Amino acid sequence: MNIPMVDLKAEYALLKDELEPAVLQALAATQYIGGPNVRAFEQEVAAYCGVRHAISCASGTDALLLALRACGVGPGDEVITTPFTFVATASTIAMCGAWPVFVDIDARTYNIDPSRIEAAITPRTRAVIPVHLYGQPADLAPIAELCRRHGLKLIEDAAQSFGAEYGGRKSGAYGEVGCFSFYPSKNLGAFGDGGMVITDDDDLAERLRVLANHGSRQRYHHDVLGYNSRLDELQAAILRVKLKRIDSFNAARRRIAQTYNEHLADSGVVTPYADGKGLHVYHQYTLQSERRDAIQRALTEAGIASAIYYPIPLHRQALFAEQCRDVQLPVAESAAQRVLSLPISPMLTEAQIERICAVVRSAQAT
Ligand SMILES: Cc1ncc(COP(=O)(O)O)c(C=O)c1O
Repeated sequence: MNIPMVDLKAEYALLKDELEPAVLQALAATQYIGGPNVRAFEQEVAAYCGVRHAISCASGTDALLLALRACGVGPGDEVITTPFTFVATASTIAMCGAWPVFVDIDARTYNIDPSRIEAAITPRTRAVIPVHLYGQPADLAPIAELCRRHGLKLIEDAAQSFGAEYGGRKSGAYGEVGCFSFYPSKNLGAFGDGGMVITDDDDLAERLRVLANHGSRQRYHHDVLGYNSRLDELQAAILRVKLKRIDSFNAARRRIAQTYNEHLADSGVVTPYADGKGLHVYHQYTLQSERRDAIQRALTEAGIASAIYYPIPLHRQALFAEQCRDVQLPVAESAAQRVLSLPISPMLTEAQIERICAVVRSAQAT
């Protein structure tokens, strides 16, 4: 492939002179677990997101699992979420012994449709997990209002939206708890796995720290069933360097999305819809077309990467299909047949965008 989905090599070349000394220093300091970079990175993320607490952990999946457990979700409970997301949003609900209840999405933003949530609430519902898909915050105000009225926790899956904003808050900071992934291709990506949970609630923060540390407050005293979920010192050192660039990188992503929009105007494909309710950070640039598969084939032939996020909605995955036999979510099902994500990363050039769009336009037209 000569145009990858995410150009991590270009990003590394740009940041090399800051990254390498930071990593070497962490190596030499030998505090590989719970070291100074981990603590400093937690404080920096809390300050960046405008919250009191940031608790690091091993992955975005763990961030969701810890958040659900800390919110008291357990066997027999239900958690409402979107079917159009990565599996971890819902598998973590099942890992708690609870059941994910899928609610269809908005056809334009691909995020959970707030107007359909209330009908899915039952006496067993404990929480709602909106996902800020492709970097655009879900419409949180009506969801938060529903959660308040029904006594539900609002857990944001902000894995794809680090640095996005909604209602004057950073993504992840609007609900009780926000969950981030630092998977390498994310807007703020580590050089391995990593995750973070943010909250303003002191009690939740305490529960999160205990759960991430083997259920222990005091060494060798274990109060609850916990996990070993840690961000390591080397990843924290890398992420601290990258956090300084996140706003300029996200701004570059918005400019790239705008350039794509201009080159694809009147092409017949549906370009991404920014609802204007918050700040979009374009983790993905995702178009829609009934000729999606032909466009993807043409891109592959031209040496251009592309990806389908997501080809199978979660209620149709074998994992959940049995219990979701009677569930019909037509908007998500149709999106899964039509969406295609094009390469995007802060270093994508105008010439590359032009090349990609020429292939898309011609495949759409034939
Ligand atoms: C929406 C969403 N939720 C959760 C995750 C899980 O994050 P991780 O891969 O860091 O476990 C991801 C990313 O992979 C994601 O995109």
